Amino acid sequence: MSKARARFVCVKCGYVSPVRLGRCPECREWGSLEEEEKPRPESKAAFGKASSVLSLDMIPEGEADRFSTGVGELDRVLGGGLIRGVVILLSGEPGVGKSTLLLQAAAGIAREGKKLLYVSGEESGAQLRLRAQRLGLPLEDLFVLSETSVPEILKLAEGPYDVLVVDSVQTLRVPELGGPAGSPAQLKESAFALSTFAKSRGAPLFLVGHITKEGSIAGPKILEHLVDTVLYFEGEKDRNVRILRSFKNRFGRVNELGVFEMTGNGLGEVKNPSELFIAERAHGVSGSAITPVLEGRRPLLMEIQALVSPSFIPVPRRQSLGADPSRVGLLAAVLEKKVGLRLFDQDLFVNVAGGARITEPAADLAIVAAIGSSFQDSPLPEDLVVLGEVGLTGEIRRVGRMDDRLKEAGRMGFRKVLGPAAELEGCSAAGIKKIKVNRVEELFSPEIGLRPLRAVKKRRESF
Ligand code: TYD
Ligand code: MG
Repeated sequence: MSKARARFVCVKCGYVSPVRLGRCPECREWGSLEEEEKPRPESKAAFGKASSVLSLDMIPEGEADRFSTGVGELDRVLGGGLIRGVVILLSGEPGVGKSTLLLQAAAGIAREGKKLLYVSGEESGAQLRLRAQRLGLPLEDLFVLSETSVPEILKLAEGPYDVLVVDSVQTLRVPELGGPAGSPAQLKESAFALSTFAKSRGAPLFLVGHITKEGSIAGPKILEHLVDTVLYFEGEKDRNVRILRSFKNRFGRVNELGVFEMTGNGLGEVKNPSELFIAERAHGVSGSAITPVLEGRRPLLMEIQALVSPSFIPVPRRQSLGADPSRVGLLAAVLEKKVGLRLFDQDLFVNVAGGARITEPAADLAIVAAIGSSFQDSPLPEDLVVLGEVGLTGEIRRVGRMDDRLKEAGRMGFRKVLGPAAELEGCSAAGIKKIKVNRVEELFSPEIGLRPLRAVKKRRESF
């Protein structure tokens, strides 16, 4: 019988190497590769139930069993609440509010008449009590356990609990396995044992996982395929806005977004995120454009800011926060070539206000409009929203779900929309004036406060 070869796994990015390395070739971290202990085969079988073959109609409908966590924004991201036996990984940087969110959800779940066990390997019972008091939660309905040993947890979780929370996976240990808590083998084995237990009982399980500052998901990355749903909780240290996103969801849509605000007494749900993202918008200034983006099913208004200023270095800076930098570079190139906007000797900064992130190409035209507005130092109309994808030849392409986006814009008091002609033609935008464009050059018109650049374009084309 051949002896199983050792594997070395990077605890930071999950890179696997057959030999021991001092530095991870993937994420360049020093000393991050650890030998993975082989999980003992019998340990897996011990946690599972005997299998049986069933026809699909013999399997109970899971969907009907969905129940609320009492936190509406969390329910939305989960795809409408919790489902029997779902295993959810909640990742985020330390201090973002994962424990706070789950403790609030625990109280909500208790309000639904369900019993939840909150296992904490990070905080003592007294600390949890203090936090719950600060959050104003009913202490008598919250059941907590301060423990890090997986077999102990499984023994105590045998009680009549409907939901389990384990905070965090990095503190868990299966003693027989050896190695420190948080090592790849410990993480996998602990998560596997807990999720098998939760699935066999049909109890939803939340696993909390910390990610490191740089955003690499130390450890939890290797758990992503083991769980049904992966949620990321994000926020900036100096702002109170917290955003919850789903990256994988076997029981619902991904890219659904939940918005919270961290307050003195816990996380508050933000019911009107558009208001939040455009709240601090300065009026009558250049370099700002509003665009309705789709986050999951929900249209949200976001403000894109651009700053174009003469560069004093040989290679001008192109920086972008909240929007893909390569996309911004591409749009700048389209502006240079197709409109004749002289950007090659200008620094260009693009920022999505409020710490939000835009992933949709539908925001292209708004990025272009913000850049144009800053370049000409000419503000766009205050009641204008801009949307459309920009192609490499300067054509403006359709975006999905125009009606929903315009409804949100109308609700927030916007009265004009600049977007792809073909799509605006057919959509009903009550009370909103449509400014239809086919090409990116058409953006530079007095109607939206920008000066046409035809003369410049001709000169540049004659080179
Ligand atoms: P926490 O939930 O402990 O974060 P995580 O579990 O992700 O590490 O949140 C910690 C931060 O939240 C901490 O900096 C204090 C702040 N906080 C508030 O601002 N208000 C509150 O009501 C609570 C409980 C925490
Ligand atoms: Mg915590």
